[in-house]
Amino acid sequence: MSSTSILVTGGAGYIGSHVTRQLIEAGENVVVLDNLSTGFKSAVLGAELIVGDTGDHDLVTKVLADYNVDTIMHFAAHIIVPESVEDPLKYYGNNTCSSHNLLSCAVHAKVKHLIFSSTAAVYGIPETGHASEESPNQPINPYGSSKLMTEWMLRDTSRATELKHVALRYFNVAGSDPGGRIGLSTSKSTLLVKVACEAAVGKRDKLYIFGTDYPTPDGTGLRDYIHVEDLASAHLNALTYLRKGGESATLNCGYGHGYSVREVLAAVEKAHGSSLAIEEGPRRAGDPPMLIAVADRIQEMLGWKPKYDDLDIIVQSQLDWEKHLLKYPAE
Ligand code: UD1
Repeated sequence: MSSTSILVTGGAGYIGSHVTRQLIEAGENVVVLDNLSTGFKSAVLGAELIVGDTGDHDLVTKVLADYNVDTIMHFAAHIIVPESVEDPLKYYGNNTCSSHNLLSCAVHAKVKHLIFSSTAAVYGIPETGHASEESPNQPINPYGSSKLMTEWMLRDTSRATELKHVALRYFNVAGSDPGGRIGLSTSKSTLLVKVACEAAVGKRDKLYIFGTDYPTPDGTGLRDYIHVEDLASAHLNALTYLRKGGESATLNCGYGHGYSVREVLAAVEKAHGSSLAIEEGPRRAGDPPMLIAVADRIQEMLGWKPKYDDLDIIVQSQLDWEKHLLKYPAE
């Protein structure tokens, strides 16, 4: 095979499947590697799926060679924060050790570019509630630490080899494919927008607001919610940037402004046209009052232009996907 390919690890998962779809639409050759532990076969639209693990040295080596991979987009990871606290080695194993394996195979195969799915969880609880790329890295859970360790491996490997990378630190990703084909399908999600939309369509009896006594305007937590379609497009911008010879970079991926829990719930009620059964509960351990991106750098460096910076659009697309799942459960 003479033409090159992009390997997407975790391409059957929520964010990876949206990026895969956009890459295929852009005419790229894409191969997905996913162990289907949380992803869904049906989410891989238009790309070949290889079922397997990022930690499998022989398999990754073979895929890189067989598909002439010159770029990797690495999404495969465990992402549930409370679970990472209970079972840290599961997180260091999959998120850190498997990333080490992927990186060592990539260097050996002379892969040129790697785009990494990192997280705002590397900032922990930033003092002002706003996190820039220069804010201290102080993760407060093993999930954040496991991702930060991979950032460090990437940083040092890019210095020592020809590999160039972009690490994108995601803020609160929500919403689904505007075409209604894919979305966040796992039934185990704890994310606010997903949980609220599940309650709206009757999959949950009620939902809780975790804390109403935060030092925020309405007492509930503030987050920077970013549409998954915009997040996905940032990866294509990062690809173009690296192909043009851009230097390795670590960039926040958020809109730079946020909404409270109450504002999100009001948007879901508006979109669904009925009120939700909401209970006010205590704070959830480890939740910062406010986590908003300082997000100028990604626009300047990558030329990224978000198209869906609107809470109502984000919520509507999530709600549409929940309705879709009622009729067609993910498989
Ligand atoms: C999420 C991700 C984290 C990621 C971070 C980036 C998880 C569990 N967390 O964190 O990996 O690094 O975004 O910013 O995947 N809330 C409620 N009721 C609910 C659920 C949430 O009140 O039922 C509140 C939370 O207290 C918080 C806000 O809603 O204030 C958002 O919470 P959530 O959607 O779980 O995301 P984060 O915890 O911010």
